[in-house]
Amino acid sequence: MRFFLFPVALIMALTGVRAEGLPLVGNIGGRDVTSLNGDWNYIIDVQEEGYYDYRMNVTRWGFFQNAKPRRPEELIEYDFDKAATMKIPGDWNTQDERLFFYEGTVWFKRSFNWTKAEGRRTLLYFGAINYEAHVYVNGTKVGSHVGGFTPFNFDITNQLREGDNFVIVKVDNKRHAEDVPTQIFDWWNYGGITRDVLLVSVPETYIENYTLALDPHALDAQTGKKAKKGALPINFSLRLNRPEAGQTVTLAIPELKLKQTLTTDEEGCIAATLKAKPQLWTPENPKLYKVELTLVGETLADEIGFRTITTRGKQILLNGEPIFLRGISIHDEKPNGGGRTNSVEDSHTLLTWAKELGCNFVRLAHYPHNENTIREAERMGILVWSEIPVYWTIAWTNPATFDNARQQLTDMISRDQNRANVIIWSIANETPHGADRENFLSRLATHARELDNTRLISMAMEVTSASNYHNRLNDNMNKYVDVISFNQYIGWYRDVNDAPKMTWEVPYEKPVIVSEFGGGAKYGYRGPKNQRWTEEFQENLYRENVAMLEKIDGLSGTTPWILKDFRSPRRVLDGIQDYYNRKGLYSDKGERKLAFYVMNEWYEKIKNEWNKK
Ligand code: GCU
Repeated sequence: MRFFLFPVALIMALTGVRAEGLPLVGNIGGRDVTSLNGDWNYIIDVQEEGYYDYRMNVTRWGFFQNAKPRRPEELIEYDFDKAATMKIPGDWNTQDERLFFYEGTVWFKRSFNWTKAEGRRTLLYFGAINYEAHVYVNGTKVGSHVGGFTPFNFDITNQLREGDNFVIVKVDNKRHAEDVPTQIFDWWNYGGITRDVLLVSVPETYIENYTLALDPHALDAQTGKKAKKGALPINFSLRLNRPEAGQTVTLAIPELKLKQTLTTDEEGCIAATLKAKPQLWTPENPKLYKVELTLVGETLADEIGFRTITTRGKQILLNGEPIFLRGISIHDEKPNGGGRTNSVEDSHTLLTWAKELGCNFVRLAHYPHNENTIREAERMGILVWSEIPVYWTIAWTNPATFDNARQQLTDMISRDQNRANVIIWSIANETPHGADRENFLSRLATHARELDNTRLISMAMEVTSASNYHNRLNDNMNKYVDVISFNQYIGWYRDVNDAPKMTWEVPYEKPVIVSEFGGGAKYGYRGPKNQRWTEEFQENLYRENVAMLEKIDGLSGTTPWILKDFRSPRRVLDGIQDYYNRKGLYSDKGERKLAFYVMNEWYEKIKNEWNKK
């Protein structure tokens, strides 16, 4: 029988004890972390040789022995030590031209040094891997994960050894009908370890996650800007990694002269309401407070802002005051040339472009973005719509698909639940109507509310009925969301030149956001405004659209599609698209198109009108 091609530490693999999966650990950046970012060796494995071998019916994993020196006669065909390296975090598509379109498996390996510390555990944290990951430490499986845009972590303490260790990750970005998203989506299927990889040192008992936020109704009684604001209720909850009662946790917000010591219950949890008079977080004054949580002498620090986000009829209220969300949609793609963002600088550049457009709001489409972007937006005073990739034709009746979507929703909320600027959780984008879809989505909406009652729920619907230039929104999901949002492409996909004739009816007593509108243009392609793909065509489309949209009763925000041109395998028109979706107000090189100025002018007008209210 032919031995398995890989120098497989098969016995280790078969006997490896699988570490337990862990709930997501919050505020990872505030903890004792060691970065594993940097050069990782990688091997492209088109036939998943490292995973399957029909001869040995091996369903476990091939490992790459690190033992040296090897016997000269040993058969080695896959050797990480001889393999190329790739920068992690980073998608593989833009780092190896052989992988530009690649959808399949790539193995990654990183060696690292580790020293045991008494009374402490070591977690392995991934910011995101697209799409499916199987993770091994020193030849033992520690866990797997599906979902390309949310973090996950494992306790690997029992798999580590003093000195030299190695982690191996099998990454597979193939698309499947039962995945979330499903097989078709209008963005590039960037594969790989696309976000930070960290070792996290924690005590045996540690703070797993927590929430700290103004009670959502803290300001209901306050009306008008001059309302005197007394001490406000701040709700605090915390969970330890284990159900230990009697653990004391000190919560301190020094700038508010607040310090309170609380004790965990038999579940290892705390729930309390404190009183304080914080400066409220707003786009104009994005005030953040240093918060310190101390448990057994170890302090976990965070920066948290305090605000409320609620609705009243067709108004969205930030801190009890009506607000118009001057937004723009953004994909998680580097400002220049594509690839997943993987630095604060990338996030800052994209968000600066949004600010220059006149935005106080961004729709982070269509999946949870890099945490860098959320936190940078919070510092810059930019409100956020965050979304899970329940996009188009999801397998609504597949229980595993629902569990996947719910897990991604849970992890999106767990990661960002303390970010004051995140105001909307979106559970879907452009999903075809039907009972199965409504059952699936209504359960997601309910789940989101159970996890977080301090934010608004929405989703990007579609206008399904239009006749004689009258557009009426008609979606049964209206009762499950707080904000009615919909995408429309009048002037691009339909009714070109008819925007001025259009009327709109949104028959629900809730605020309205137009979550997508727009059209394409190739930067630098100039011509008459009726010539498709010219900047003038896009400029005119925007001019006609904003004039049409501002007539919508209850319009509380817009997030035009999209900040910048982005890569998509569905956009192939040679010489114009070249695998880019060209609906950006900026080109893929950060150049402003004429339509940018139409949108900027409209937002300035809106800002001035709303400031007078
Ligand atoms: C859709 C979809 C986007 C897509 C856009 C387009 O509405 O939500 O993901 O990129 O339209 O067609 O460009």
